[in-house]
Amino acid sequence: MNLRDYTLLSPDELRSRIYKAKTEKNAVLLVHNYQRREVQEIADFLGDSLRLAQEAARTEADLIVFCGVTFMAETAKILNPDKKVLIPDSRADCPMAKMIDAPSLTAAREKYPDAIVVTYINSTADVKALSDICVTSTNAVKIIKSLGNRTILFTPDKNLAEYCRHMTGANIIPWAGHCYVHNEFHVKDVETARIESPDAIFIAHPECNLGVLSLADYVTSTTGMVKYVRDHQDEIRRRGLIIGTEVGLIEQLQSLYPDLNIYPLTSSALCATQKLTNLAKVAWCIENETNEVILDEEIRCRAYTAVKRMLDFS
Ligand code: 13P
Ligand code: SF4
Repeated sequence: MNLRDYTLLSPDELRSRIYKAKTEKNAVLLVHNYQRREVQEIADFLGDSLRLAQEAARTEADLIVFCGVTFMAETAKILNPDKKVLIPDSRADCPMAKMIDAPSLTAAREKYPDAIVVTYINSTADVKALSDICVTSTNAVKIIKSLGNRTILFTPDKNLAEYCRHMTGANIIPWAGHCYVHNEFHVKDVETARIESPDAIFIAHPECNLGVLSLADYVTSTTGMVKYVRDHQDEIRRRGLIIGTEVGLIEQLQSLYPDLNIYPLTSSALCATQKLTNLAKVAWCIENETNEVILDEEIRCRAYTAVKRMLDFS
């Protein structure tokens, strides 16, 4: 069957094919919080970049199907050289990860020879391979604090870099990358939302700019947001909650807590490549073992060092 044949099947038929293939092949489905709800609902593990990297590191499955963007599937492969890692749509790149490449990072390392290169997990394997340590939105501040007063070249997200500098006072040289979804949030959006819901709590992802983050009651990763809602239901019931991140996470929370008033900061905050994956592509991918992630072994080994350092720290 080709992909088009799968698109003609019902959601129930697709789900039962996915579950059957998963059992037969001893596969695990790792799903990021920004995926479509239909994909979130079939996850073995649903989470942020750190949680999914941790699950990839500890899985005993033979086959990993990664529903997210390519840097996440690459990270799973970096951690699992002997397992097959598949991604249902291989075009699902993160544009931020493309805002830096190996030659430009090599040149920057020469320009700042004493700097430690700290790289956000939203990066390609060859950029990780040139980095000293990786970070995610969950552990970036903690890892930067651990580096003392060393100069840090922080790639590729300038907003996360500036947030880390704000939180730690570290000497950080930020790369000029950004997430086009979070970078579209402006202080004015928060002010407008606060006029409409003056009592609402506002939480935001650290990929937002510092102006937006300085207005937030809490800054955290996507899984941090899920935990925040779990732990503050009474307060949210009284005050409402505005969330500055991609709508996939907000849809998840709205469906988990239909009685709470949870709103996106802007409803247009949508990551197009995260939405490329759907049930039909997952069924096609797992049954036919298509779109395998392949990495150069030397790059994988060097990238492993940076990812492993991060995991050991988390
Ligand atoms: P986390 O889910 O790790 O917070 O990151 C968000 C993101 O942009 C992933 O692409
Ligand atoms: Fe990349 Fe932003 Fe999409 Fe995350 S939300 S995958 S950082 S473009």
